[in-house]
Amino acid sequence: MASAKVDLEVGTDGVALITMCNPPVNALAIPIIIGLKDRFQEAAGRKDVKAIVLTGKGGRFSGGFDISVMKKVHETGDSSHLPDVSVELVVNLIEDSKKPVVAAVEGLALGGGLELAMGCHARVVAPRAQLGLPELTLGIIPGFGGTQRLPRLIGLAKAVEMMLTSKSITSEEGRKLGLVDTIVSSEELLKVSRLWALEIEERRKPWIRSLHRTDKTGSLSEVREVLRTAREQVKKTAPHLPQQQACVDVIEHGIVHGGYSGVLKEAEVFKKLVISDTSKGLINVFFAQRAISKVPGVTDIGLKPRNVKKVAVIGGGLMGSGIATALILGNICVILKEINSEFLLKGIKTIEANVNGLVRRGKLTKQKADVALSLLKGVLDYTEFKDVDLVIEAVIENVSLKQTIFRDLEKICSPHCILATNTSTIDLNVIGQKTSAQDRIVGAHFFSPAHIMPLLEIIRTNKTSPQVILDLITVGKIIKKAPVVVGNCTGFAVNRTFFPYSQGANLLVNLGVDVFKIDQVIHNFGFPIGPFQLLDVAGYGVAIDTSKVYAGAFSDRMFKTPLVDLLIKDGRNGKSNGKGYYIYEKGSKPKPDRSVLPIIEESRRLCNIMPNGKPISVTDQEIVEMILFPVVNEACRVLEDGIVIRASDLDIASVLGMSFPNYRGGIVFWADLVGANRIYTSLKKWAQLYGNFYKPSRYLEERALKGIPLSAPASAAPKSTARL
Ligand SMILES: NC(=O)c1ccc[n+]([C@@H]2O[C@H](COP(=O)([O-])OP(=O)(O)OC[C@H]3O[C@@H](n4cnc5c(N)ncnc54)[C@H](O)[C@@H]3O)[C@@H](O)[C@H]2O)c1
Ligand SMILES: *[C@@H]1O[C@H](CO)[C@@H](O)[C@H](O)[C@H]1NC(C)=O
Ligand SMILES: *[C@@H]1O[C@H](CO)[C@@H](O)[C@H](O)[C@H]1NC(C)=O
Ligand SMILES: *[C@@H]1O[C@H](CO)[C@@H](O)[C@H](O)[C@H]1NC(C)=O
Ligand SMILES: *[C@@H]1O[C@H](CO)[C@@H](O)[C@H](O)[C@H]1NC(C)=O
Ligand SMILES: *[C@@H]1O[C@H](CO)[C@@H](O)[C@H](O)[C@H]1NC(C)=O
Repeated sequence: MASAKVDLEVGTDGVALITMCNPPVNALAIPIIIGLKDRFQEAAGRKDVKAIVLTGKGGRFSGGFDISVMKKVHETGDSSHLPDVSVELVVNLIEDSKKPVVAAVEGLALGGGLELAMGCHARVVAPRAQLGLPELTLGIIPGFGGTQRLPRLIGLAKAVEMMLTSKSITSEEGRKLGLVDTIVSSEELLKVSRLWALEIEERRKPWIRSLHRTDKTGSLSEVREVLRTAREQVKKTAPHLPQQQACVDVIEHGIVHGGYSGVLKEAEVFKKLVISDTSKGLINVFFAQRAISKVPGVTDIGLKPRNVKKVAVIGGGLMGSGIATALILGNICVILKEINSEFLLKGIKTIEANVNGLVRRGKLTKQKADVALSLLKGVLDYTEFKDVDLVIEAVIENVSLKQTIFRDLEKICSPHCILATNTSTIDLNVIGQKTSAQDRIVGAHFFSPAHIMPLLEIIRTNKTSPQVILDLITVGKIIKKAPVVVGNCTGFAVNRTFFPYSQGANLLVNLGVDVFKIDQVIHNFGFPIGPFQLLDVAGYGVAIDTSKVYAGAFSDRMFKTPLVDLLIKDGRNGKSNGKGYYIYEKGSKPKPDRSVLPIIEESRRLCNIMPNGKPISVTDQEIVEMILFPVVNEACRVLEDGIVIRASDLDIASVLGMSFPNYRGGIVFWADLVGANRIYTSLKKWAQLYGNFYKPSRYLEERALKGIPLSAPASAAPKSTARL
């Protein structure tokens, strides 16, 4: 941050070059914003300056407003951290300048960066630059005039689409749409921009103030139609995101009342949104995602990641083929090993189907698919294993089988080869027991389907070396996963935290609450599907298996339900046989199956936990809380046991692994917004009424009573014991 500055350099041609310098993306930090204002005023006042070119140092124009400033506002609750010199004032200063200003754009101009460029009188852009206004992904709207200038430059429909979807466009698309005046090579960027600025000054090129334009926005009836469609769309796709509706409102205001009025309205709405819970949640997730790659004792001790060029995957089942797919898509050579040619062929077919599925859905070009598949080789023995850098074992969960495999690997693979297992339920220390390579053994927990789900839990034992962890983090990033380093415990961080989720839902059902109501309420909270539909989709076998594992590990806080057994007895298997809580038919949405109700009645009779035999009465909010507070409670235990390095790791993991709504910031972040004390008090009350499933953990109790946020690091709460 010390290096953040804005330079001004006047050439013999009378053009002042103003350069933003704040590596790596020239984020608009406060010193940059103040620097811009000062340099523009200086250039305006200098007699030797005829025209101005604005650019960014290091091949990137600007990535936009410095998000850490917003984080600071959220942490302190003090919005005076926002720039006192508003960027919009700077943009107006540029746009209304008596000397023409040209933006010389390269690399990227996103958010506030694009808004600055749109305030200039022309935009000269290098090929393949990224241009966009992604502010809505952070719970805010563009705050520096973007909602007003983009529609005036490229037309309303496209501008609304770019803002609501937060998708950027390239220089080439920008040229067609009118956002870009010309595309020139990177080498010629400054030269052409200077000439362009001088030509504007000599009136040989038009001097255009974006905010004054009216030729692109269309007639009032066209405007109404575009905005009406946008509002309907938003109501359907983003009912929880206030910034979406607000963005449409602000755009409309500017078209009805004029650009300057629109800019004022935009600033007013921006200020409100920036302190909304939605923005707090989304910005927490943004930083949580970046924090996972900082692992104390691993990434801060001067180690360099080793090159992982060739990976062996053992087992071509669902997980193994998903993992192999992710690897070849990341340009890594994969050896897939199976026990016989029939299974091997099946595994390879699955991988091909995975890759072709991506092509069919337009997520991958045919050419890239061919390259990826050319990196795959199937084998039936270990001869190819001599020079692999990493082995990922993905065979069935069987300790003695896994131990045998690891003993073989130790003999065959090179002494630097990383040995990773996908085990979800077996103690890593036991797997490695029979080898002397324990420092190279590490867990890799992918979420199914592994080539699509973005989360990767990296499980270290207390013997795993930092180099091995670093290498796996690096591979994780190459294959576009979010790698979260966690400690070893039943279910690891994510599944353990969420084991009470399905149990809480089952407890409620047995207390008399309607299953479909529960699914609806949880869906309304922001999960894509409710817990019972999730059970249908995942399959009852998985539920039975994992429930056994949890019963062994967490017997003091288990809720056991007869429901799944009763469903299976009734011939239901969930989605796999089309019959579960819902009816699944090809080509239509799952429909609630009312014929499941007598089975639920049977379960309630067997369970016999309804007070006085009558269904309890709960509000929607209580349904959410009776399911999610126990999850928070388990998250507290995960934090206390030091399974994750920091609370925000559970936030990002809950969002990416369990589809916890990102705009609620993740499970721990949400809990702190609700308040530890309220969660503690509710759980205590329910524990008295319904038993130990709800009993508050020690960590929760301590923090609730002392008023310490659940997310605060252990140093804030003296007694916490980090075991990593
Ligand atoms: N790591 C994760 O992220 C994750 C996620 C979900 C589930 N799981 C676990 O995965 C397991 C089931 O996965 P699945 O559905 O892919 O099972 P699966 O039975 O479809 O696949 C297992 C494959 O491994 C092969 N195999 C067995 N021994 C082998 C050997 N010595 N060498 C080579 N290949 C061998 C089998 O022939 C089979 O094809 C479960 O136990 C579950 O707990 C892991
Ligand atoms: C586990 O693997 C071992 C060794 O491969 C095998 O003998 C045993 O039958 C397997 N156990 C189960 C339950 O499949
Ligand atoms: C590991 O892979 C095997 C085989 O594909 C699969 O059965 C098992 O569920 C996977 N385990 C985990 C934790 O993903
Ligand atoms: C974790 O949860 C996922 C999704 O519910 C499930 O498919 C997987 O088998 C679970 N793994 C473990 C180890 O519990
Ligand atoms: C590592 O874990 C094992 C098994 O839990 C334990 O016995 C041992 O003391 C631990 N070693 C260290 C160095 O923490
Ligand atoms: C790893 O987790 C298992 C439970 O799944 C536990 O039995 C074992 O002691 C743990 N090992 C270490 C080193 O913590």
